[in-house]
Amino acid sequence: IFEQVLAGKRITITAGPTREEIDPVRYLSNHSSGKMGYALAIAAQELGATVTLISGPVNLLPPAKIKTISVSSAQQMHDAVMQTTHDCDIFIGCAAVADYRVQQKTNQKIKKSDSELTLTFIKNPDILSDVAHLANAPFTLGFAAETQNLREYALGKLQRKKLNMIAANDVSDSTIGFNSEQNALSVFWSKGEKKLDVADKQLLARQLMRLVAQRYTEDTND
Ligand code: PMT
Repeated sequence: IFEQVLAGKRITITAGPTREEIDPVRYLSNHSSGKMGYALAIAAQELGATVTLISGPVNLLPPAKIKTISVSSAQQMHDAVMQTTHDCDIFIGCAAVADYRVQQKTNQKIKKSDSELTLTFIKNPDILSDVAHLANAPFTLGFAAETQNLREYALGKLQRKKLNMIAANDVSDSTIGFNSEQNALSVFWSKGEKKLDVADKQLLARQLMRLVAQRYTEDTND
């Protein structure tokens, strides 16, 4: 019965890393490949949802018939998300967004001079939290990429960011999480949790979307 819940629903999904430019030739980023987020976009589309995929720089082809918006920095991803979320039913933050950007991007390449180089970083906006705190917030699913205390940190993010659900993965294990073909997720919501065992990201994405459909039905009928 949950198969039909997402038909016609508008779902915005972020995927991939962001790039924070330091100078014209260098940037700060992370190991996200976009595979998990793209798999979610395909799984949501299979369930009949109208998907908007907002993607950082990845080496993946945009999925067929899914509106894909390419961005680079966290600020650009924030702007693109804010433009689409006013009319979305469900928001999924799977992107590995850089928490910080350099305070002052230089217009010229930084030249090698002293033995040390100091850069000052300032905080980026938290896209997921900003969406979840909107007056007319959609149903929100966040991710938590952790290397320790998975449960505790994920529950902290669920609460602080005011999310409906959070899917936590252990990114200290190189066989799952960042850039691998497989992943394993511990999913939490206010009144429950569910473990999704190691599996191919596309299979896992289908399991997670079914869980989203279930939680979405129950939360919107509360
Ligand atoms: O892309 P793959 O190689 O397939 O790898 C998948 C993945 C490991 C990247 C993915 O499963 C995952 O865990 N994505 C979230 C990565 C992350 O940034 O986690 P976080 O714990 O730092 O952030 C928590 C949540 O807040 C995330 O939903 C994130 O999208 C969001 N966030 C974080 C910072 C920020 N400035 N804005 C945000 O929206």
